[in-house]
Amino acid sequence: MQTLEKTNLTQAALERLGGADNPRFKQVMTSLIRHLHDFVREVELTEEEWFAGIQFLTATGQKCDEKRQEFILLSDTLGVSMLVDTLNHQKTTGATESTVLGPFYVPGAPEFPNGANLAEGLPGDPTLFSGQVRTVDGKPIPGSEIDVWHADAEGFYDVQRAELQEPQLRGKFHTDAQGRFWFWTTRPTEYPVPTDGPVGQMLLKMGRHPYRPAHIHTRVSAPGYESLTTHVFVAGDRYLHSDAVFGVKDSLIVDFVRHAPGTAPDGTQLDRPYFTVQYDFGLQPASPA
Ligand SMILES: [Fe+2]
Repeated sequence: MQTLEKTNLTQAALERLGGADNPRFKQVMTSLIRHLHDFVREVELTEEEWFAGIQFLTATGQKCDEKRQEFILLSDTLGVSMLVDTLNHQKTTGATESTVLGPFYVPGAPEFPNGANLAEGLPGDPTLFSGQVRTVDGKPIPGSEIDVWHADAEGFYDVQRAELQEPQLRGKFHTDAQGRFWFWTTRPTEYPVPTDGPVGQMLLKMGRHPYRPAHIHTRVSAPGYESLTTHVFVAGDRYLHSDAVFGVKDSLIVDFVRHAPGTAPDGTQLDRPYFTVQYDFGLQPASPA
């Protein structure tokens, strides 16, 4: 019988991985256990603190359902999501940079033709978003899919509004023969990540604000190319330098240009001011399987 103490308990826990037959799993778990034990030793964690941590993680899981992903929010707000993104998506010249998926992505968004308005009947500044999807060499990629979602004029996503039965401000478009896409929506606004759950409480306790700068989420994909998950951020937003989830990259900040009422570039007549934003997405070839 061996008495395990703080000096040899980590080694004992690592030795229990001897039966793991997946080398990558073994590597990840070895590092996780080592860092976790080092963390506990470093801060000399009390039993009360340990239990508070367990309760926090339990509450984080309990807050999750099919519309709310509190664990992604936790990962995002601790900077882990962006660290994983940075490690896994080295930018190639001509390829658009990626950023976090965020907790509000919903698969299976409705499909729309180019020129459609995602914000029909909704308050907010009308905005024409247009661009091209192309290769890193600048060649158009026809038939690319662009999945778009963003918050409404009050800073809420559709899945945060219990009264909504249908998707709102989200949809899929496909590029035409010249790789172009265009659609109408509203100009996004800055918004706080949800603060009514354990992650929000953590942020407040850290003395952090919960705001994200205004942005439109996009996922761009085409056969033979690496899928791109990114945002387009509104230039000039006051939270660009302190995004609650660390997701801003300079190359993703774009001018939303204000126009007087009149005829928009796609021929739409507007009797109130509107905005245009133009952004081209570069996709890099899929790596060989
Ligand atoms: Fe967002």
